[in-house]
Amino acid sequence: MRARLPWKLTAIFCSTLIAGLCLGYFYLTSHLKVFLEQDLQNTLKRQIELSRGFMDEQIHLTGRLSDPSALARRIGVDAGMRVTILSADGKVLGDSGLTTEELLSVDNHAGRAEVQEALRTGLGLSRRYSNTLKKDLLYVAVPFGNASTSGVLRFAMPMSDVRLFAEGLESIVLVALVLVFFLSLAFTYLVSVLVSKPLREMSLLAKAMASGDFSRAPLILSGDELGDLGDALTNMSRQIRARINDIEEEKAKLDAVLSSMLEGVVLVDARGVIRLMNPALRKLFFVDIPPEGRRSVEVIRNSTVSAMLEKLLKGPDRFDERDVFVGFPEERILKVSGVSVRSAGKPEGAVLVFHDITERRRLEKVRQDFVANVSHELRTPVASIKGYAETLLEGALDDPQHAREFAGIIRDNSDRLVSLINDLLDLAKIESGKLPMVFMPVDLRPLVLRCLGVLEKNISRKCIQVSLDIPGNSPKVRADEDRLAQVFLNLLDNAVKYTPDQGVITVRILPGEEHVRIEIADTGVGIPADDLPRIFERFYRVDKARSRELGGTGLGLSIVKHIVQGHGGEVKVVSAPGKGATFSFTLSYA
Ligand SMILES: Nc1ncnc2c1ncn2[C@@H]1O[C@H](COP(=O)(O)OP(=O)(O)OP(=O)(O)O)[C@@H](O)[C@H]1O
Ligand SMILES: [Mg+2]
Repeated sequence: MRARLPWKLTAIFCSTLIAGLCLGYFYLTSHLKVFLEQDLQNTLKRQIELSRGFMDEQIHLTGRLSDPSALARRIGVDAGMRVTILSADGKVLGDSGLTTEELLSVDNHAGRAEVQEALRTGLGLSRRYSNTLKKDLLYVAVPFGNASTSGVLRFAMPMSDVRLFAEGLESIVLVALVLVFFLSLAFTYLVSVLVSKPLREMSLLAKAMASGDFSRAPLILSGDELGDLGDALTNMSRQIRARINDIEEEKAKLDAVLSSMLEGVVLVDARGVIRLMNPALRKLFFVDIPPEGRRSVEVIRNSTVSAMLEKLLKGPDRFDERDVFVGFPEERILKVSGVSVRSAGKPEGAVLVFHDITERRRLEKVRQDFVANVSHELRTPVASIKGYAETLLEGALDDPQHAREFAGIIRDNSDRLVSLINDLLDLAKIESGKLPMVFMPVDLRPLVLRCLGVLEKNISRKCIQVSLDIPGNSPKVRADEDRLAQVFLNLLDNAVKYTPDQGVITVRILPGEEHVRIEIADTGVGIPADDLPRIFERFYRVDKARSRELGGTGLGLSIVKHIVQGHGGEVKVVSAPGKGATFSFTLSYA
């Protein structure tokens, strides 16, 4: 685990403190003895001066020094140390540490360093080992008396006292320093905790921000720099949250736009890696894995698209537009427009937009086919009329038998032209919504019977049996009667046309819950499955030659589909080759 800040601060402060205290301790203790000795010497000097003053006064009053041995003992007791009184020639007259008998055996002290120095300079100092007392002593000596009576007064103090005192002081200093150390330690820890608390708060806030949680706010109430930092951090957190909200909102808008677009959109970066792909494009290329982060060539497996991207990302061109053919799962034609995203003239990526133009292309083709078909259908009867008219003019008029036959052919072709033109006009009107429909309640039974009546001649010629399956009280539907009759006529006409002799045609009226369903079934040639989806297109005929032979142009079912749709209904067909065909459509109740 990483050391926490308070501990780190405490450790740093403690190391400094320990170093400082050790230095202080060694400095104090090393100088303590010198100070103490100095102080002792000064005390000794003052005391010896006092005693000398007392002795000089006695000599002045009495002219001599009475009983120096007793005097030395008395001063020794008062001063608390060893006192020696010497004559000027170094003979020991009195010593507080020796009895009168012992005095007799003491050797002359004239040679002692402090004595000589005292006589010479007025103050003698010496530190040495005393043979008399067997210990280290500090000596101070001063001369006393006048011309008649004089000598040297000497104080001695054992150095062990000084050492003991110094040792006592050392331990006091040590205890004081240890106390200072522990107090400082506690204080430092307290300060560190106080300082690190707001820092900890801010670190937690930063961590929360990094993990996306912007709800935290540090509780720093101090008005110092830490408080300012806390405020700045809180402010920053608020601003980041606001920015993130803005970005999320923008992203949601962009997502909504891209998702609702019918066009496919893909954005790739400079390396050709997909950054964004909308659902429409995923559907177009059957992408069921998340495409973001993959190379576009892996996802959109199309050589034209890859070539386009290559050109936009590497070449100098900024725009490109191409038609792309997709063969799977169904054939589609896409118009792909691409633009390269550049920064400082360098390609940073590219955007491709895919428009599905399959339907547009199909409609264009239908229109072209329509024009070709119309021209073709018109040309045949017109050519025939022209041919026969010319033949008549060139002399056939004089041959009444042929003239009659040719005039008949001219009339039939004119009829065909008229019916074709009528069908085309009807279709054009219905498609453009210009054919007004008048909706009224229509009784279906009489309408069906009337339409069958129109086709009666053909039905009986082919010996076709018509079966009606209409409920007794046939329902009334909401319809434009004339247009509905057109629907029945076309469907019944087809049924008769494409059913061989002795076939059966069944008309069923099936009242459902919401709609009435009308079925016209035959037992005719039927329609192959491949043609089924196309038979409602204009001019579409399964067997062109045969249909034309039967006088058909392929417009009938197209008109049926549009009229039924105009009624809000739907046309369906079920058929198989050789199995007959069943056309059905729905109408609403009146
Ligand atoms: N009942 C049916 N049985 C078999 N094939 C049919 C039937 N009805 C329509 N078809 C097929 O659908 C094609 C289109 O029919 P549609 O009624 O539009 O044209 P048509 O009958 O050929 O000409 P028109 O009706 O304009 O005189 C027909 O050519 C025919 O091949
Ligand atoms: Mg028809």
